[in-house]
Amino acid sequence: MPVRIVNLKVNGVDQAFMAKPETTLLLALREQLGLMGTKRGCAQGACGSCTVLLDGAPVVSCLVPAVTIDGADIATVEGLADGPVLSDVQQAFLDGFATQCGFCTPGMIMSAEALLARNPDPTSDEVNEAISGNVCRCTGYAPIVSAILDAAQRRRRRTGSEEAAL
Ligand code: FES
Ligand code: FES
Repeated sequence: MPVRIVNLKVNGVDQAFMAKPETTLLLALREQLGLMGTKRGCAQGACGSCTVLLDGAPVVSCLVPAVTIDGADIATVEGLADGPVLSDVQQAFLDGFATQCGFCTPGMIMSAEALLARNPDPTSDEVNEAISGNVCRCTGYAPIVSAILDAAQRRRRRTGSEEAAL
């Protein structure tokens, strides 16, 4: 397959770039679009560090050939904050000391975002299940799970008060 132009919407912005058949979504994000927030760990689909949302679903971007997803909507960790205001999940990770070395954090946060989008009030077991593909080499999973539960609570409170104000 020859080099192809791939069009993606990344964090709400239309992007076009040239991709070889072997160019993964992970490499395209980091090396062609300059979005370094998505981390490369194993590059074999086993660690979850490279997790992004593809049309709303979490995927390991190191296993997705960019040429196969022309026209897709991608969300990365760079798209979560609203200017200086972090997302609920980002702020909860920060407040709950859940970042540790931080290498796995973007992938964890994207898996958490996907979970909260489909389940705003998850149990601890559901959080554990949602991040089961994300390996944290620091193995400090307890603060990560607490931060995601905290983020869910913050988001429910915030969206509840926004609805009440309408
Ligand atoms: S870098 Fe993609 S799963 Fe490890
Ligand atoms: S915070 Fe260090 S690998 Fe997860």
